[in-house]
Amino acid sequence: MVTPSATTQRVWVDAAATPDAAPGPIGWMDVVTVAEKAVGVTFAYDPAYRARPDAYAVSPELPVKAGSRDLGSMPGAFVDASADSWGQKLIRRQLRAGGVTMLSDVDALLGISDEARTGAFRFRQQTDAGAGTTYLAERAARVPVTLDLRDLRAAADRTRAGKTSSEDAIAELLDAGTAVLGGARPKALVRRKGRALLAKFPAPDDEHDAIRWEAVSLHLAHAAGLATSRVRTVEIGKHAVLVVDRFDRVGKADAAAQDLPTGGAGELRIPYWSARTATGDGRDYLDVARVILEMKAPRDVVRAQLRDLWRRVAFAVAVHCTDDHLRNLGFLRRDAAWRLCPVFDIEPDPVQERPRSTAIVGVVDPDDAPAALVAFAGELGIKRSSWQRSLTQVLAAVESWPEVARRVGLAESEFAAMDAAIGHRRDGLRALLG
Ligand SMILES: Nc1ncnc2c1ncn2[C@@H]1O[C@H](COP(=O)(O)OP(=O)(O)OP(=O)(O)O)[C@@H](O)[C@H]1O
Ligand SMILES: [Mg+2]
Repeated sequence: MVTPSATTQRVWVDAAATPDAAPGPIGWMDVVTVAEKAVGVTFAYDPAYRARPDAYAVSPELPVKAGSRDLGSMPGAFVDASADSWGQKLIRRQLRAGGVTMLSDVDALLGISDEARTGAFRFRQQTDAGAGTTYLAERAARVPVTLDLRDLRAAADRTRAGKTSSEDAIAELLDAGTAVLGGARPKALVRRKGRALLAKFPAPDDEHDAIRWEAVSLHLAHAAGLATSRVRTVEIGKHAVLVVDRFDRVGKADAAAQDLPTGGAGELRIPYWSARTATGDGRDYLDVARVILEMKAPRDVVRAQLRDLWRRVAFAVAVHCTDDHLRNLGFLRRDAAWRLCPVFDIEPDPVQERPRSTAIVGVVDPDDAPAALVAFAGELGIKRSSWQRSLTQVLAAVESWPEVARRVGLAESEFAAMDAAIGHRRDGLRALLG
């Protein structure tokens, strides 16, 4: 038997300029990889970072302390900054062209373009002379591709004029060739007047019009009083592309308008943790509540965050979104505290009885969700009158789904399954208001 050998790679970690802090080094990570999997990770903070008054733990496993520590696997915050399944597909394709067949955790972290990487980390590679001076994948990577919103609109026009099929137009936009044809839902970084946006494309094996249902859900979430990024859809032939403002970036013009110091960096980046990272692999919304309760923020901020969390969970129940795993919820760091980020990746599940991915006070069965919401409000210390007000707004918003679905261009043939899935939840939730 051939035993795979271990390799060690040093990665230097920097912080980009954020709305609250200047850019600078954070520390370094040594990653030991066996058979493409990170089996040992050590991390050390740079003394200059530890001395900063605004220093904070970059991942929950990494309290700000001197010395190097052993972690075993990649810190959660770095996993959040790694390529998603679409990005990994593109990186794998690049590696294959160079004769490498496997994608390691380090490749997934470093192969994504610096411009597109979620959150505020930037990475430099070890060179013979120490830390490299350029950020990894600053230019070359094109993972994912960067488009101008005008490119999308032009593709839409070409398709409308019958000059190209929607599939060809999308393949051309994504510069992905046949990679578009399998599995992961493609994404691209989109620029519009210096702002960063994210485009989500349909996957060919989508069983329903997932992109338009996500757009509908985001519009409804907004009407339900939840924070959402600005959302639009661009129609390329029969396919819709979802385009949302990125919540982890502040464009140059917006930074200037808000009087934020950019230190010459132009665009600012906002640190991001998924709720999975923040909770240390939590499985229940109570774990998310615990993170909020433990954060060092004024009492009224904490209470508002807990009410916000309750409303999100009630909304997810009302639209029967079951893919609510904790990487589909996140925190952004602003004003020295982690706060819930805008709602994303939410869509109704046409399978009525599917259990939810994250438990509500131990409950994953959708039929038991209304009772679980009441118990959850009790755990969070939210008064009945307060959660009933939130629920009234959530139900009123969700009630308008057929209108919104028509506006977004959903085919009526998709309505019946969703009507069943959403309608099935309605009575149980309404009973809570009685
Ligand atoms: N508006 C946004 N601004 C910044 N980052 C975002 C935004 N929406 C999503 N993201 C980031 O991109 C990642 C992937 O997006 P999203 O979860 O919508 O896609 P997905 O591929 O459908 O995920 P899943 O595998 O859960 O279905 C998210 O985990 C989040 O980190
Ligand atoms: Mg997701």
